[in-house]
Amino acid sequence: MTFDFDTVLERRGTDSQKWQKYAGKDILPMWVADMDFVSAPPIIEALQRRVAHGVFGYARPAASEVEAVVTAVERNYGWRIDPSWLVWLPGLVCGLNVTSQAFAQPGEEVLALTPVYPPFMTAPKNSGRVSVTVPFMLNEGQRRWEIDFVALDRAVTPRTRLFFLCNPHNPLGRVFRRDELLRLAEFCVRHNLILCSDEIHCDLILDAIPHVPTATLGAEIAARTVTLMAPSKTYNVPGLGTSFAIISDPKLRTTFVRATAGIVAEVTNLGYAACEAAYRDGEPWRQALLAYLRGNRDFMHRFVEANLPGVRVEAPQEATYLAWLNVSALGLADPIGHFEKYGIGLSDGAFFGEPRGLHVRLNFGCPRSTLEEGLKRMEKAVKGRLKAEG
Ligand SMILES: Cc1ncc(COP(=O)(O)O)c(C=O)c1O
Repeated sequence: MTFDFDTVLERRGTDSQKWQKYAGKDILPMWVADMDFVSAPPIIEALQRRVAHGVFGYARPAASEVEAVVTAVERNYGWRIDPSWLVWLPGLVCGLNVTSQAFAQPGEEVLALTPVYPPFMTAPKNSGRVSVTVPFMLNEGQRRWEIDFVALDRAVTPRTRLFFLCNPHNPLGRVFRRDELLRLAEFCVRHNLILCSDEIHCDLILDAIPHVPTATLGAEIAARTVTLMAPSKTYNVPGLGTSFAIISDPKLRTTFVRATAGIVAEVTNLGYAACEAAYRDGEPWRQALLAYLRGNRDFMHRFVEANLPGVRVEAPQEATYLAWLNVSALGLADPIGHFEKYGIGLSDGAFFGEPRGLHVRLNFGCPRSTLEEGLKRMEKAVKGRLKAEG
C-alpha cells in the first residue's frame, strides 16, 4: 500500500496552533511537534464512522479499544500489560503534572536531564514542586549524548522524590539502550525515587534500535514506574487528546488516579475511536511514515553539512521528527528572531533548559518540498549572518 506524504496541505486559516503563530506572515512554521501530514487512512475512516453515529455522550473505552492498546504494546515491545493498569488521560503533559502532584509534596524535587521538552521542568513548578536539572554530556568522539550519572547522584537531595525520563528523547532524538536504562533504574531504586517514563515517541524510532519500556526492566523498577504513552505523535492526532499511563503497581496507580480526580478531563469518543484504529490498523502507514521521515532526516543532515556553515548536527538522530541543531558558532543573541526574519519558525533551545544561543530545534515532520524550502531559508539566514559578521 502506498501513502502520500508529499502533498503540501493548506493549514493556514485552520485551528492549527503551529500555523496560527505566523498567521499573515511568510514564515514557515517548523516548531511545535505536530506533522503536516494527513493522519493514517484507518484512523480517518474510524472517525468518520464514529461521527456518522452522531451521538457523543460521556465516554468510556470499549473493550476493543483497550484490546488494541494492550495488543500493540505486546506486539511492539513484548510487554504484556493488564488492562487494569491503564489510566486514560487527555494528554501526556497532563500526566507529567499529575505525577508531580501525586508523588511529590510542595517544595520537594523532581529531577530531569536537560535539554528536555519544557513541561518536564514546568510541570513540577506549576504546583509548587521544584525542578532540578542535570545536563546531558556530549561524547564528541562517539558522537553520542550521554547521561552524566555522577552529576545525577550529586543532584539528589533528601527532598528528591521523582525522576522524569524522556525516552526516546525530545529534543536529542536519542533512544536509550538497555544498559543505560538499567543504570537509571538502579539509580531510581537506590534513591527511592518514583520514575515517570514519558515514552510518547517510542513508535517513532528511525533506525533499527529497539525501544525498551523502562517498566520492563524488572519487578523493582516496574513497581515504582509511571509510563506515559499515546498514539498522538506517531499518528499525528495530538489534537484529539488521547493518551494513557501504564501503572502496574496498584498503590502507585491509586495515588495517581486520586490526583486526577475532579481535575483531569475525560478522553472523548473520537479520541478512543482514533486510538483503536491507530494501534490496530495503522501499522502499514506507520512503517511508510518512518521511511519518509528517515528520508527527511538524511536529506536535512546532508543539507546542513553542505550548505549551513556554523550549524552542526552533533550526534546521529535515532528517533522523532525533531532535530537538535547547534547554532552557537553563529553567535546569535536571539536565534529564533534571526531565523524568523528569513522566513523560518524554529523552537528556541533556551526553552529546553539551556542558555539561549546554543541550539534550535527543527521539526521535519512535513513534505520534503516544505523541508527543502525551510532549509533554503535557513541557508539565507546563516549566510546573512556570516556576511554581517565578516
Ligand atoms: C516528550 C513529550 N511529552 C509530551 C508531549 C506532549 O504531549 P501531549 O500533547 O499529549 O500533552 C510532547 C510533545 O511534543 C513530547 O515531546
